[in-house]
Amino acid sequence: MPFSQRVFCGELTPGDAGRSVQLAGWVDAFRDHGGLLFIHLRDRSGIIQVVFSPEIASAGVCRRAAGLRAEYCIAVTGEIRKRLEGTENPGIETGEIEVMASGLTVLSESDTLPFVLSDKAMTAGAPSARREAVSEELRLEYRYLDLRRAPMRDNLIARHRIFQCVRRFLDSRGFIEIETPILTMSTPEGARDYLVPSRVHPGNFYALPQSPQLFKQLLMIGGMERYFQLARCFRDEDLRPNRQPEFTQLDLEASFVDEEFLYGLIEELTVEMFAVGGIELPRPFPRMTYEEAMETTGSDRPDLRFGLRFVDVTDVFPGTGYAIFRRIIDAGGSIKGINVRGQSGRLSKNVLQNEYAKEVVPSFGGRGMTWMRAEGGRLDSNIVQFFKAEELDALRRKFEVADGDVLILIADASPRAVTSVLGQLRLHLAERLGLIPEGVFSPVWITEFPLFEATGDGGVTSSHHPFTAPDRTDFDPKNVEELLSLRSRAYDLVMNGEELGGGSIRISDRDLQRKIFAALGLDDRETREKFGFFLRAFDFGAPPHGGLALGMDRTVSMILGTPSIREVIAFPKNRSAACPMTGAPAQVKREQLAELGLLASAGTEPMRGTRERENLVDRLSWVARIGVDADERPAVEEALAWAEEMAAASARHAGMEEPVHTVAPVANRMRPGDEARRSELAETGKLLESAPEVKEGYFKVAAILE
Ligand code: AMO
Repeated sequence: MPFSQRVFCGELTPGDAGRSVQLAGWVDAFRDHGGLLFIHLRDRSGIIQVVFSPEIASAGVCRRAAGLRAEYCIAVTGEIRKRLEGTENPGIETGEIEVMASGLTVLSESDTLPFVLSDKAMTAGAPSARREAVSEELRLEYRYLDLRRAPMRDNLIARHRIFQCVRRFLDSRGFIEIETPILTMSTPEGARDYLVPSRVHPGNFYALPQSPQLFKQLLMIGGMERYFQLARCFRDEDLRPNRQPEFTQLDLEASFVDEEFLYGLIEELTVEMFAVGGIELPRPFPRMTYEEAMETTGSDRPDLRFGLRFVDVTDVFPGTGYAIFRRIIDAGGSIKGINVRGQSGRLSKNVLQNEYAKEVVPSFGGRGMTWMRAEGGRLDSNIVQFFKAEELDALRRKFEVADGDVLILIADASPRAVTSVLGQLRLHLAERLGLIPEGVFSPVWITEFPLFEATGDGGVTSSHHPFTAPDRTDFDPKNVEELLSLRSRAYDLVMNGEELGGGSIRISDRDLQRKIFAALGLDDRETREKFGFFLRAFDFGAPPHGGLALGMDRTVSMILGTPSIREVIAFPKNRSAACPMTGAPAQVKREQLAELGLLASAGTEPMRGTRERENLVDRLSWVARIGVDADERPAVEEALAWAEEMAAASARHAGMEEPVHTVAPVANRMRPGDEARRSELAETGKLLESAPEVKEGYFKVAAILE
């Protein structure tokens, strides 16, 4: 059967009644009705019912049709007719018509499916064939089947439309699409590189780009003026639901522009992209400095769909009689709070005291929480008697309290801890109390980021990347305090608490760029080695330029409202950066390693450096994915040395050379020595002070450590 006349199932309408058509696709579902056989034929455009009737189709066609099973790939010829009254199926777009088949070719058969794909009922009013819950791992293993399902198909089509919208828009603004290399050298964006060994240059590696940052700046120096790319980026970093090891950015850069040009351009583009998904975004997008975002929401990517902004009430309590607050204020701390308006009915004394103060706040790292409920014109709480009337009045004024409101205050000697705890609490309360409105999109530009962050070892690192222009240039690159006071000309586009994109005006002056590298602690040799080619380009008339990159997976996911970016990527990696379908990453043959120069002498000996044990702390920190700061190292080293000593001692005691694992029950095996030894590190809590969670004064650790 030739396909030249093929039409798409989903495009047929009652107006096509009487037309002879040729269709091709997959059997979505089938139903045998005593001699009459009905199938749902599905292609990318939709589903149509096909009827095999012995009155129209030959006996051979009917016999072949009787053998059809789910997901057989078939071609059908037949005539469109209107369905008989009362047999229409409003559950499918073409539910008013059907195809009376006269020909059938089975193009390929299908095995029994690992999960049900169909979710359309074949008859009107019947409950739709509900798919059983399928694990994401199984969906990813059989992604090609998962893609046949309408939601995945629709997501990918919508992604395509959004990408086309980007291309059209940027083309109309004079931006040209240019590809930059995938096999390249390190492009610093704060993650680890994926490395590709070179066969031609044994022992040398390409790095996959973390972003096209260096190349897009070189394109500006190359006079391209306005560039964009839907660029694949690669970052070896800890995974989160909105992160993938490889992802797609809309990367763009323009010369002779300032922040206002970029804000305007990206706002217009974002409005157009969201319009593809039927979402109207209000313009202009509001702007908020980094400092304001942190001070009022505790986050540099604030979710502004709801209130619960922080109010600083430290100045309400100078010389307060409440000892906890007084001590905190004396220690230079702060007290901030939120007014959870009208929620006292849902935040009872019991919930506030036993759940929030004792469980929730400590799990966010808070040491305590003060709550007050407004009732009958007064503030009520378990500790209200410790406050003076003027203090309570001031709180009422500052929070604009009305009856039914609940105030939650967090006080801590560290102002950073206050914003961190309150920030987490803000999101928790909004979700729990259903304060986040559906279908609302709140974009915001976050501006004036700090240029640098402290590294913990007395140095600084770039908050964005080292090519971002500072707000002033007269700084001393050796003065860490001054460096930490610098602001950058960077901006992030944040929507509903998610960072969609970020960019900056760049440094276009070679001396300033050198100064930034010096501030980052790179000496001349390192700077030359890593960025020599880049700096050299600045010797030849670099234009002022700036740009931005939007995470397209995140943007599409937000437009479509999917729970994770994996739903808008055809073949994503799973939560552990692996592909359950292909099995990547996988081991390779020793010969292949040898060919790449990764094995010395004919593939028998590991290359120098791979076998030696790395530094134990680095290794454990890497395996456990727990960062160990320089000032924590001595404590961790001491604890490890002690653990090794213990292991060696127990091995000696058991008459063994080395410790072994055993599955046999171990009974009455005592440590050598008759005195219990306690680690000072454990007793002072230092051993676990980097543990991520604390509950009621105890560190939460994996069960195996308990
Ligand atoms: P940045 O590192 O902020 O900036 O990245 C830009 C945007 O890319 C998205 N993104 C990711 N999406 C999915 N998975 C990931 N692992 C991931 N990492 C980042 C985010 C983020 O906002 N070169 C600069 C841009 C510039 O300065 O022009 C850069 O890459 O949505």
